Amino acid sequence: MSDIAYVNGAYIPIDEARVSILDRGFLFADGVYEVAAVIGGRLIDNDSHLSRLERSLRELRIENPVPMTGIAEIEAELIAKNGLSEGLVYLQITRGAAAEREFGFPAEAAPTFVAFAQKKNIIASPAAETGVKALTVPDLRWARRDIKSTALLAQVLAKQAALEGGCQEAWMVDQDGFVTEGSSSTAFILTREDVLVTRLNSSAVLPGCTRRAVQVIAEREGLTVEERSFSVAEAYEAKEAFLTSASNLVLPVVSLDGRPIGSGAPGDTSRLLRKRYIEWATNAASAR
Ligand code: PDD
Repeated sequence: MSDIAYVNGAYIPIDEARVSILDRGFLFADGVYEVAAVIGGRLIDNDSHLSRLERSLRELRIENPVPMTGIAEIEAELIAKNGLSEGLVYLQITRGAAAEREFGFPAEAAPTFVAFAQKKNIIASPAAETGVKALTVPDLRWARRDIKSTALLAQVLAKQAALEGGCQEAWMVDQDGFVTEGSSSTAFILTREDVLVTRLNSSAVLPGCTRRAVQVIAEREGLTVEERSFSVAEAYEAKEAFLTSASNLVLPVVSLDGRPIGSGAPGDTSRLLRKRYIEWATNAASAR
């Protein structure tokens, strides 16, 4: 069975799915996206992803072509049509295709809505056992990183630098030497005093949905969570580090720039938070 995608109201095999070369997503990265995890055929924390999508659209003044409840139905339909048990659902909305390439918002363009599903072993991930290595890179992005825009070139370059450096994730660093976030994840450290630290949400970072859930879970486990900037030097000295994202849930980071973090193996707190997040996600999904 070929994979089925959604394009502007139609469900079609992904290799037949097309949008115009004049689509502003293609020409200007004038669009937004969301990625939500699917476990046991159910979307995880989807309300949080959909409200961030709504906010991204509002901030960029892109009209929402489908009501929010309609989007959840499209996601459910994609899961069913693709027989997806575990993986991701990707949504993208652009400002659409105009008759010509013009920078200003076109009066006549209707937004383009595409979505597809992707199989991925999220829970039984080998990286969760070994942890991942991270490499720091300068954060080259624009000033509105709180919007989940499809303009991801800086993250593409960051991830590639990490891969070429034998790492799996890049941690982007601002001009003052503080870590902003991963190329496609939120960055956390656990200090030697057992305080969990992640950057305060602002226009400098994407407000992670997984971050938000993990913060609540961590506090329930009795951990103190500090929302503040941490430097690369502080991360080198951390007891543990991990990343959070819809695509990897909670993943231990075992080295940064080739320096082992803590023991150089996934730490107890990172493992516990991953376990508790999966419990929370699967319980919340099956309760629906
Ligand atoms: N990325 N920061 C950035 C820059 C991200 O791209 C992501 C997610 C996150 C984590 O957000 P969340 O927990 O809501 O997934 C933080 C997705 C998974 C992606 O681009 O594939």
